[in-house]
Amino acid sequence: MGLLTGKRALVVGVANDRSIAAGIAGAMRREGAELAFTYQNDRLRERVEKIADGLGSKVTIPCEVSSDKEIQGAFASLKKHWRSLDILVHSVAYAPREQLDGDYLQGVTREGFLMAHDVSSYSFSALGEAARPMMQGRDAAMLTLTYIGAVKAMPNYNVMGVAKASLEASVRYMASSLGPEGIRVNAISAGPVRTLAASGIKGLRGFLNHVEQVSPLRRNVTIEEIGNVAAFLCSDYAAAVTGEITYVDCGYNSVG
Ligand SMILES: NC(=O)c1ccc[n+]([C@@H]2O[C@H](COP(=O)([O-])OP(=O)(O)OC[C@H]3O[C@@H](n4cnc5c(N)ncnc54)[C@H](O)[C@@H]3O)[C@@H](O)[C@H]2O)c1
Repeated sequence: MGLLTGKRALVVGVANDRSIAAGIAGAMRREGAELAFTYQNDRLRERVEKIADGLGSKVTIPCEVSSDKEIQGAFASLKKHWRSLDILVHSVAYAPREQLDGDYLQGVTREGFLMAHDVSSYSFSALGEAARPMMQGRDAAMLTLTYIGAVKAMPNYNVMGVAKASLEASVRYMASSLGPEGIRVNAISAGPVRTLAASGIKGLRGFLNHVEQVSPLRRNVTIEEIGNVAAFLCSDYAAAVTGEITYVDCGYNSVG
């Protein structure tokens, strides 16, 4: 029996097979979970359907997370397939590319700031509230993805770091809202991974090289390893863990 046998997971944030969400979905499937996926737009639809199919899922639903209407529609569609939900994975972030380069204050704009916070932080709260009725009283779990740029100023990460700080605070407030209903809320703070979203950050190669040189494990993390920790955090083995940010970064955050 797997860690997640009998559980149903909705995975938000697969763009391709290098996405962290794809690593998480793979680990959750291996551990016995039944999966459903959302995709951001029609451009990503086929790719997400193919990945879902490879993981035994026929449930793929559109969801642009900056739209309340799309979020409501996504859960209305999900309810046609499943009456209940045990796991929500939120693996979504966006900021305009020009905001992720150079001096924070010189680059940040009201529009970029709002967009980064809307898509990368608020969407977790919005999806959490939409998922809530399907998850009550089930030892359910919500999980999001963050980065050390939330707690340390990292080169070029800029407004995304500010949005991740807001996301990490949301984890604690959501855990407090949902704990009495038997729903846990956690985040994984992942080390850098070469994905579509990360390629928007200037100097990604430098981040990867630096982690390889100074992290205790002298290497970078893989999406499979992030997936394994995600599966654990959403399993009943982590039944007493909520409101936590867990670093999965080969120990990088622990060194000075
Ligand atoms: N790659 C890294 O180095 C790294 C490190 C730590 C944390 N993270 C976080 O992991 C999460 C997943 O990113 P990834 O690196 O796998 O990249 P990715 O590009 O594979 O995934 C990002 C996903 O966000 C989705 N998305 C963006 N805007 C959206 C919107 N408006 N509506 C719906 N979906 C939207 C994209 O469609 C995509 O599926 C993000 O929160 C990211 O900040 C990434």
